[in-house]
Amino acid sequence: MIQSLSSRVHGQHLVQDVVMPAIISHFQDPQPNKALVISLQGETGTGKNFVSQLVAEAVFKKGLTSKYIRKFIASVDFKLMNETDIYKVELADKIRESVMACERSMFIFDEVHMMAPELLNALKPFVDSHTEIHGVDYRKATFLFLSNAGTTAIRKFVLDWLTAGKQRADITLEDMEGRVAAGAFEEKGGLKNSDLIKHALVDLFVPFLPMERKHIELCARDALASKGVIPDPAIIKRVADTKVYEPQDNPVFATQGCRNVAAKVNVSSPVNPV
Ligand SMILES: Nc1ncnc2c1ncn2[C@@H]1O[C@H](COP(=O)(O)OP(=O)(O)OP(=O)(O)O)[C@@H](O)[C@H]1O
Ligand SMILES: [Mg+2]
Repeated sequence: MIQSLSSRVHGQHLVQDVVMPAIISHFQDPQPNKALVISLQGETGTGKNFVSQLVAEAVFKKGLTSKYIRKFIASVDFKLMNETDIYKVELADKIRESVMACERSMFIFDEVHMMAPELLNALKPFVDSHTEIHGVDYRKATFLFLSNAGTTAIRKFVLDWLTAGKQRADITLEDMEGRVAAGAFEEKGGLKNSDLIKHALVDLFVPFLPMERKHIELCARDALASKGVIPDPAIIKRVADTKVYEPQDNPVFATQGCRNVAAKVNVSSPVNPV
């Protein structure tokens, strides 16, 4: 499954290096001392949801549709700030039910930057090292938090790194981790001020790096291949050309990453042979 991640996820070597190994070792540990908590952070279209889907597929036969995976989207499931007390109770119930049915349950929280800190606080007991809570042991569960927190810090770090003439692939998690975590603490909403941060309950902060032109080209190639056509370099180039690159004085990062690349491929190759 690590192979599947490295061939399908572009430009995110840190994800390959740390996410799957962390998940595998947690799954292989017969008695982990706490639930695994990973925060995937970065700008739009860099692959956070895509990676969570691949992780789900690697772990559960039915992938994201497995009944042991619960996915929550802040703007849908926790939309009303004045309902936080109700959401807290419902969320705790859903987590308990799921873990009682499968102790290896996985919980994916999308748009964590939009979640009320009190709601995140309600997760604390489940990700702490309690051996059991009312007879249920939550320590084999996995929690993935997806957010845009820390985006500015990540972009600045990578830009400085590339401008210094260094290779993107040489960036290590240690180089970045402090900054990404700091980004999550600094930006309003989500993990900031949450008990998960105060009590150091997030095991890994994983930065998703801004995508460069070559990554857009790979996404375009994949989109063509998934339509069953031999990737045409002219179409790939056209799709990459339609993207806006930033910052203005050194335009290396594609805004919105690979988001919409599949749609752009469809527009650029109107003849659908399938
Ligand atoms: N690193 C990547 N490698 C391969 N494909 C990618 C990558 N990033 C994005 N994509 C493609 O772009 C689509 C959109 O990406 P995704 O939904 O994962 O972005 P995101 O990081 O969750 O963004 P947002 O912050 O807007 O939610 C994916 O379904 C995938 O097809
Ligand atoms: Mg997303």
